[in-house]
Amino acid sequence: MGDAVVADVRKSFGGAFGEYAVVRAAHLVKKPACVSFGQAATVPISGLAAMMGGLLCEIKPGDRVLVNGASGGVGSFGVKLAKALGAHVTAMCSAEKADVVKSWGADEVVDYKTTSAEELQGNGYDAVFDAACFESPSRFEGVLKDNGRYVLVGGSFYRMLRLKAFGRWYGRGAQQFKTLTQEVEVTANIERVLEMIARGQIEPAIQRAVSLAEVPSAIQSLERRTVVGKIVVNNQM
Ligand SMILES: NC(=O)c1ccc[n+]([C@@H]2O[C@H](COP(=O)([O-])OP(=O)(O)OC[C@H]3O[C@@H](n4cnc5c(N)ncnc54)[C@H](OP(=O)(O)O)[C@@H]3O)[C@@H](O)[C@H]2O)c1
Repeated sequence: MGDAVVADVRKSFGGAFGEYAVVRAAHLVKKPACVSFGQAATVPISGLAAMMGGLLCEIKPGDRVLVNGASGGVGSFGVKLAKALGAHVTAMCSAEKADVVKSWGADEVVDYKTTSAEELQGNGYDAVFDAACFESPSRFEGVLKDNGRYVLVGGSFYRMLRLKAFGRWYGRGAQQFKTLTQEVEVTANIERVLEMIARGQIEPAIQRAVSLAEVPSAIQSLERRTVVGKIVVNNQM
């Protein structure tokens, strides 16, 4: 009773912006005391997706990792996770958000509106973490090393379904083209992200906290794409 907990409510009965949620006990993870509620709130969707994507990217120290959609909720975790694992990170996002993304530790930032994936060819990336897949993943074939991993974490649902069905036919050599599956250890991965935050290895990129009453304007900001990183809702405000 009274424990501070974190959960992906999508795994139970769903829910959004409520003060109370009904969650199966097996899906609860204890919130480390040193992790704030705001930080913890960023974990069950964006942090979790980034951790699942990062694991599929098989990032090792010294790897060169390209993060597409780097300025978003998932991409911000992707950049920070790859840096925490010792990778050299190239972030792709809009130019207006480049300074903030660089402040998260990205080694270089590329504007996807002026530089196409094809123009990065020959850079020899070990992994592409794609949180904004709206075109064919095969455009990253030329930027990946022969044994590189491309992981579709977010973007078009159609692209995700296509990759799930036909992923084995993408790429050349020993390249792998993968996407997230439902068969993952959700609570274990939430715990992994919370532990990294507790150890100071990852700091969630929270642009601002808003009250429940401010949720509609926060959603408008997301729709206008003026958010960099995450917005969290705090019902104590
Ligand atoms: N599989 C899962 O469990 C899971 C979990 C969470 C999210 N997702 C998915 O992951 C994706 C990202 O979520 P998010 O919360 O990070 O969204 P977000 O915060 O809105 O960020 C979107 C990112 O995508 C970039 N972007 C948008 N349109 C683009 C385009 N046409 N070309 C290139 N980049 C573009 C944005 O760049 P700029 O703003 O800099 O232009 C931004 O970096 C969504 O599709 C979401 O549904 C999946």
